[in-house]
Amino acid sequence: MTDVERRTALEAIAAEVRVCTNCRLHETRTKAVPGEGDPETEVVFVGEGPGFNEDRQGRPFIGRAGDLLVKLLASIGWRREDVFITNVVKCRPPDNRDPQPDEIAACAPHLRRQLEVLDPAVIVTLGRFSMATFMPGARISQAHGTVRPVDPATGARSATVFAMYHPAAALRTPAIERDSYADMAGVPATLIASRARRESAQAPQPEPEPEPETTPEPETTSAPSQATDDATPQLTLF
Ligand code: URA
Repeated sequence: MTDVERRTALEAIAAEVRVCTNCRLHETRTKAVPGEGDPETEVVFVGEGPGFNEDRQGRPFIGRAGDLLVKLLASIGWRREDVFITNVVKCRPPDNRDPQPDEIAACAPHLRRQLEVLDPAVIVTLGRFSMATFMPGARISQAHGTVRPVDPATGARSATVFAMYHPAAALRTPAIERDSYADMAGVPATLIASRARRESAQAPQPEPEPEPETTPEPETTSAPSQATDDATPQLTLF
């Protein structure tokens, strides 16, 4: 997909999200929050759901939790514009209550389609509701800072998930804030490892050794390797 095709596809999904009525959360929202970021990024951050400020402005992670997310990104030399940021539910749960299973299920096709378009190498989950989508069965106290391969049924064809605490939890608990900085420091290496895995999965298989006694085949052109995405920006890794 070209940059323009990705942008257009993401904008089409966002337009659907803004008028979505698939669950009860649309009744109480001010604005739906589809997500935002670089359409060519290799890294997608997935939070829980919009809060008060996000609901007002229609943008993800712009309140206090967002400020901390920006600081966490800055600690590895990244900016929020370098990644894509979205949530498992795109409309604010009233009074910031937890999103309910039927609301997450109703919103899942939006996230799946975003991931199909973005084809990220790494998904960073922020909090347990996002983690449950990509690391089913994991417990955040043990899983934070760890990785797993992502099930392609999520929409992400070939990604690694990296679990983190939700920034709101880090704002409440200094020990979680310290863990969050330590965890974020592991994201660039996860991106490097995931890139390498994706590249080796795309590399052409070596030609089998010819049988010694057979007549040599006439030379053939080997199958072209998958086009690599030259437009992908290089995130500063260290
Ligand atoms: N918390 C989230 O999980 N998502 C946001 O967009 C903002 C706060």
